[in-house]
Amino acid sequence: MKNLEKLVANMTFSEKIGQLSQHNIVLFLDSDAAITGPAVRLGIKKEDIGKVGSVLNFKTPDEVISLQNKHLEEDPNKIPIIFMMDVIHGCHTIYPIPLALGCSFDEELVAECTRVAAEEASASGIHVTFTPMVDYVRDARWGRVMETCGEEPLVNSRMGAVQVKAFQGDDLTKPGNIATCVKHFAGYGGAEAGRDYNTVDVAERTLREFYFPAYKACIDAGAKLLMPSFNSLNGVPSTANKWLMKKVLKDEWGYDGTVISDFAAINELVKHGVAADKKEAAKRAFECGCDIEMASSAYYHHLEELVNEGVFTMEQIDAAVLRVLEFKNSLGLFEDPHHGASAEKLSEIALSPANRAVVRKAAANSAVLLKNDGVLPIKKDVKKIALIGPFADEHKIIGFWACYGKDEDSVTVLEGVKAALPGAEVVCVKACGNEIADTDKSGFVEAIAAAKDADAVILCLGEPQDYSGEGNCRTDLTLPGVQEELAEEIVKVNKNTAAVLFNGRPMVFTNLAKTVPALLEMWFPGTEGGNAVADLIFGDVNPSGKLTMSFPKATGQCPIYYNRTNTGRPKAVKDEDVRKIYCSSYLDCGNLPLYSFGYGMSYSNFVYEDMKLDSDTLTSDGEIKVTVTVYNDSGVAGKETVQLYMHDVAASSVRPIQQLIDYKKVEFAPHER
Ligand code: NOJ
Repeated sequence: MKNLEKLVANMTFSEKIGQLSQHNIVLFLDSDAAITGPAVRLGIKKEDIGKVGSVLNFKTPDEVISLQNKHLEEDPNKIPIIFMMDVIHGCHTIYPIPLALGCSFDEELVAECTRVAAEEASASGIHVTFTPMVDYVRDARWGRVMETCGEEPLVNSRMGAVQVKAFQGDDLTKPGNIATCVKHFAGYGGAEAGRDYNTVDVAERTLREFYFPAYKACIDAGAKLLMPSFNSLNGVPSTANKWLMKKVLKDEWGYDGTVISDFAAINELVKHGVAADKKEAAKRAFECGCDIEMASSAYYHHLEELVNEGVFTMEQIDAAVLRVLEFKNSLGLFEDPHHGASAEKLSEIALSPANRAVVRKAAANSAVLLKNDGVLPIKKDVKKIALIGPFADEHKIIGFWACYGKDEDSVTVLEGVKAALPGAEVVCVKACGNEIADTDKSGFVEAIAAAKDADAVILCLGEPQDYSGEGNCRTDLTLPGVQEELAEEIVKVNKNTAAVLFNGRPMVFTNLAKTVPALLEMWFPGTEGGNAVADLIFGDVNPSGKLTMSFPKATGQCPIYYNRTNTGRPKAVKDEDVRKIYCSSYLDCGNLPLYSFGYGMSYSNFVYEDMKLDSDTLTSDGEIKVTVTVYNDSGVAGKETVQLYMHDVAASSVRPIQQLIDYKKVEFAPHER
């Protein structure tokens, strides 16, 4: 065990700054980088590159091992580098995007997936993942909704905490366990108009009630690192927001872990207009407790100056360095700097049948059946099945932020269906593209002919996987291109049609729901997506996902969320009645979403009976026992997420008209009560 204080005391200032900086791997691998490339842009001298304390965006375990070895040979203090990476929904074997996984309402499943990611990541040489992202969201235009678990703080909190625990395990020094970074603190999901990086103005009460709980839950679960968000929050960017970073995070919540900026976020304080130059940016971030600067060099250039000028003391610098070293120590890196990095181990586990089985189960259990007029499940003795649409034989279904995952390793719907029904005739027609600009309908003719001739049709529709994720926002949430028209044409010739949908956000399926008899939301399901589709459409797995984010009827309803408060003029008529009446409503659309949070169908039929609030059990803390009987009124085994909502009818401030306060996913045998 190292004496870390002593180590810090013996370090030079530039060595200390090294520990407070994180750079991209390019700086290390490209020997010219210091002369021609990114290091020049950052103004970092060649001789200082090796002093850097942490690195992101590397590729292979061998790369990590050789860099670590070289570094340890040369570093006078023998302080290992810490390697960080975004492992968001899998490392090599990719599971459904977080928004989808949340719909499973199954924390054990989330933990199982996370373990797959942790083992693969650790073998890849990753020590820290920038996960979980638990930004609270209400606006599906924002592309990063795919990274969160949606619009309910309770779900976001539980799913975040379970990931922290599963990534980190009981003993973080063990290879196979990696540290987590909770992000993006705070309020990033409140970006105005759903445009990424945009301004966030949210009342403190709303922050505390809706936005904060999941970050706090992850901290309480032991997250080792925290990342402030890019956005300005109520006037001050999070990285420089004293109220947020000092008062709430440190004073109120007692967070004593390490803080890392988001990518170049310290430099961006200048663009935000809250720092005159990079020196002031460094000052503002450091005084707010940001220990590590990611991918910019304001600390490198200015921290020493700020100490010399008396703005910061050496003790403050040392305390930040010590936090970084303690972080490294908590991973056992001083004793075992490779922490499980092994090409051999990686080749054993990455995309192994066992890992594929876990992500297949996850993909099937994250899917949400939105509509079913009896078309699904399709009987396995079907003779001829037509797969129609841009996602029918598409590998790009793993989703944004897929770490080292490769599209080509994924199973397409065509491959999954063929594997499930080797005896059936499977016809596949792409018919059209899935991009906004794809307006060519010439492929419809072949698709219509195939649909006419088939016993069942699966329409495979959606938006490209890079239409969601960082920087990928939309103002129109309908299906891109001519896909809705395709659906109409196909259903005209074959009513035995279901649509499976691939998308990274809630979309507007209002027209589709009018046309197509069955809709199955697959999200971006990951490496085993096509097999999971087959499991669901042929009934080997009974759909059990419930939405964690509401699907609007029209994009103009955004932001839309179930846990809204009432108004003084609620809509007193049917939601679809759009006459001009002086109540809170639209002239051209209802108020309610098309599919709300918590919604999702099953092949079973669950019936709720005898809900009771037992006043005898009321405690002085206001706890009360609630019981309900749930009956599977069908011959099909299935799972149901039982959800308990409450509403405070008359409170001192307005309260959500519905608020989820607990849930439990329960498995039922046929006709079980
Ligand atoms: C920027 C993103 O906002 C953040 O989520 C991510 O962890 C970093 N880049 C590092 O890749």
